[in-house]
Amino acid sequence: MKIVVIGGTGLIGSKLINKLREHGHEAVAAAPNTGVNTLTGEGLTEVLKGASVVVDVSNSPNWEDAAVLNFFEKSTRNLLSYEASAGVRHHVALSVVGTDRMSESGYMRAKIAQEKLISASSIPYSIVHATQFFEFLKQLADISMVDGKVHLPPVLFQPMSADDVATAVGRVAVEAPVNGTVEIGGPEQFRMDELVRRRLASLKDPREVVADPNALYSGAKLSEKTLVPGSNARLGQTRFETWLTQPAAQVAKVA
Ligand SMILES: NC(=O)c1ccc[n+]([C@@H]2O[C@H](COP(=O)([O-])OP(=O)(O)OC[C@H]3O[C@@H](n4cnc5c(N)ncnc54)[C@H](OP(=O)(O)O)[C@@H]3O)[C@@H](O)[C@H]2O)c1
Repeated sequence: MKIVVIGGTGLIGSKLINKLREHGHEAVAAAPNTGVNTLTGEGLTEVLKGASVVVDVSNSPNWEDAAVLNFFEKSTRNLLSYEASAGVRHHVALSVVGTDRMSESGYMRAKIAQEKLISASSIPYSIVHATQFFEFLKQLADISMVDGKVHLPPVLFQPMSADDVATAVGRVAVEAPVNGTVEIGGPEQFRMDELVRRRLASLKDPREVVADPNALYSGAKLSEKTLVPGSNARLGQTRFETWLTQPAAQVAKVA
């Protein structure tokens, strides 16, 4: 089966390409540096020729409110229109658990807009809602700095390894479209401030992490369970302490 991975050179995309190939699929990575640009349409006709499934794990290079909204709206519109012409039978997209509960966030409004375009299109689809990636914890600290300290709300969250995200997205891609959402998450729950503190300690990063109930996440006020997936979520196997021993944890890859 030919499966095109939009954003196939990124953190999740590159792992997904390897896993799909290991399972015998023809997996093609599509991104600007492979000559495919979903914002302009460049390379889409060629890469989608003969494709059964398209998985969109791309991300906006700019997270400013207007830029990220423009990225997800424009790229998704283009993609769905080229997919319809190419006869693609399943569109899979990666989004975030609790997206619809965080419309105060410009980034999440962009993901909501992406999801609306997908569900309104004629192409059968599956939207995968993932929790935060372990690989994202350091960047979470970086974007939560106030007066030299990391301010995070002490809410529950259930992050997972990027490798488990790619495994779960790969499974969804080869299954029948659900025409709805599949939630995925990690095997353990933590307080957000507690886990980021542990991640920084593992990196010997001396920054202090403050549990601040008023701190925002990506511009949104969170309640206790905003980021927690429902009871039907498919859970990854990798525990945080195990992930810390893996090579992925040594490289502080920015999501
Ligand atoms: N971070 C988290 O904790 C988290 C949690 C849940 C869901 N997600 C979602 O996961 C998805 C993937 O995240 P990631 O960290 O794997 O992203 P990433 O590593 O930043 O990769 C982004 C990919 O998008 C590609 N891209 C950028 N502009 C493009 C364009 N105009 N046309 C085609 N491709 C383009 C990039 O290609 P180049 O390298 O060539 O620029 C790259 O391959 C995102 O949609 C995000 O919302 C993230």
